[in-house]
Amino acid sequence: MYRSHSCGELRESHINKEITLSGWVQKTRDKGFVVWIDIRDRYGITQLIFDEERTSKALIEQARSLGREFVIQVKGTVIERASKNTNIPTGNIEVLVQELKVLNQSVTPPFTIEDETDGGEDIRMKYRYLDIRRNPVKSNLIFRSKVAMEVRKYLAEAEFIEVETPYLIKSTPEGARDFVVPSRMNEGQFYALPQSPQTFKQLLMVGGMDKYFQIVKCFRDEDLRADRQPEFTQIDCEMAFVEQEDILNTFEGLTKYLLKEIKGINITSFPRMTFDDAMAKYGNDKPDIRFGMEFGELNAVAQNKEFNVFNTAELVVGIAIPGAASYTRKEIDKLVDWVRRPQVGAKGMVYVKCNEDGTYKSSVDKFYDQEDLANWAKATGAKAGDLICVLSGDTLATRTQLSALRMEMAERLGLRNPDEFAPLWVIDFPLLELDEETGNYHAMHHPFTSPKPGQLELLDTNPGAVKANAYDLVLNGNEIGGGSIRIHDKETQATMFKHLGFSEEEAKAQFGFLMDAFQYGAPPHGGIAFGLDRLVSILGGQETIRDFIAFPKNNSGRDVMIDAPAAIDDEQLKELSLKLNIKS
Ligand code: AMO
Repeated sequence: MYRSHSCGELRESHINKEITLSGWVQKTRDKGFVVWIDIRDRYGITQLIFDEERTSKALIEQARSLGREFVIQVKGTVIERASKNTNIPTGNIEVLVQELKVLNQSVTPPFTIEDETDGGEDIRMKYRYLDIRRNPVKSNLIFRSKVAMEVRKYLAEAEFIEVETPYLIKSTPEGARDFVVPSRMNEGQFYALPQSPQTFKQLLMVGGMDKYFQIVKCFRDEDLRADRQPEFTQIDCEMAFVEQEDILNTFEGLTKYLLKEIKGINITSFPRMTFDDAMAKYGNDKPDIRFGMEFGELNAVAQNKEFNVFNTAELVVGIAIPGAASYTRKEIDKLVDWVRRPQVGAKGMVYVKCNEDGTYKSSVDKFYDQEDLANWAKATGAKAGDLICVLSGDTLATRTQLSALRMEMAERLGLRNPDEFAPLWVIDFPLLELDEETGNYHAMHHPFTSPKPGQLELLDTNPGAVKANAYDLVLNGNEIGGGSIRIHDKETQATMFKHLGFSEEEAKAQFGFLMDAFQYGAPPHGGIAFGLDRLVSILGGQETIRDFIAFPKNNSGRDVMIDAPAAIDDEQLKELSLKLNIKS
């Protein structure tokens, strides 16, 4: 038996008990006449004591010879500590060791296995298995497991069935590039790894499974960010005989359940906001509603005066930054520089200080009088002491820029409290999105999403205006889930493909299997997928999903620990009928 207890388990009630522990050497303190060693496992740390009065010389010498991260087993007696450590649960006791066995040695680790380590990101990723021994990473993985277990509990209770779908498939369009896998047995042909199990879960509905879920890996070859990994995990769900309302209710339930079970928080408000409203009020389809600073559109009160920049703009829009009227000229200049950075892209910024005495001081006093500025304050909800920041230009670009400023200011003012959770549904998304570069429309969610009833006809005349039965679940400014009610008849699906620029042959070649299936009594159906990595990191109060993934990829999509991706040898290439054409 390697151990009778874990390293986090022993308390005063165990005093005088003979126990066995196994774990890693965290730290050694040698005072000459006494040696203390901290032994660590997943559950905690226990202090071991070796002293001249009670321990043999040989055993003390053996203890002294241990290095950091050696794996050891000790037998001994639990005793009361002379000086207690109130910071750890085992801090009242220590173990007087009678027997010590080295189970495995360790070379000196490249960074300290401490909460605050001296190892930088790169080295920790290379030795991720050592990083996982550290509390912050370990507890994130345990937290993730707990969330996944609770998800399974809720969905099982609601009669969802977990079904596995294949990873070697044909392309499923979710808007990213596919990772492809060459087939040895089918020369010159490739599988694609699923960007999501979308088509399969729809086929499961045709198969009569009624309620499906799967905690599943998805693969997308896209540019990486803090909230994106090339392989990530979805909680993928689909239901038959449902309308949008049924889906929203079911998954609002799941979100509330998780917040209650995991965070102990009762969510009472779960608003729904249309895409159009979200864009107009927050400049963003994933608004963080933990704080205000809603947009105030100023076209009506700022145009048709002498100020040409505003007169020629499609949109003039502002936000009131609480308490920022006291900013110095220098601080405001810095803010203007911030919005003009290429990453934000505004041309300039107009500001209005709302003074405590009820007067206004603006950067455009030449063009606007106090009454004008009072109207701006009304439109943006600004109070005395606030600073109104105004941007102008093309509608979408200006909204995006002001949204960036809103989020930045919320961050600076500490309004993005990670312990507060504000979920909402964003609904009524447009069905199609115009690709500015090609001039073509593509599906905003995916091509299987159904238009709102009665809007199919609009596809011919005003495709950009067609609204979809599509919804996103947003939590604290992050899109944590998205889904839609699907098209379930062959004709509508064929029309959709046509509008997305597929020829009949192309649609048949790529999605013939789905349209075929629709001929055999496909039930009305719809679903959603949550990004598990995102959900877990936000519940954990963070926004970098890498910290909640055991073995993540870096920003170039590499796993630096196993050094992947890597070249394959000529033999393997030949077997796969592949020929590389790389210019060196
Ligand atoms: P969607 O593409 O919106 O929908 O994806 C669902 C959710 O998955 C998460 N997500 C990601 N997380 C980490 N890294 C990524 N690269 C990444 N991409 C997406 C997001 C997102 O909300 N089949 C549809 C769902 C449906 O219609 O039912 C789909 O995949 O949190």
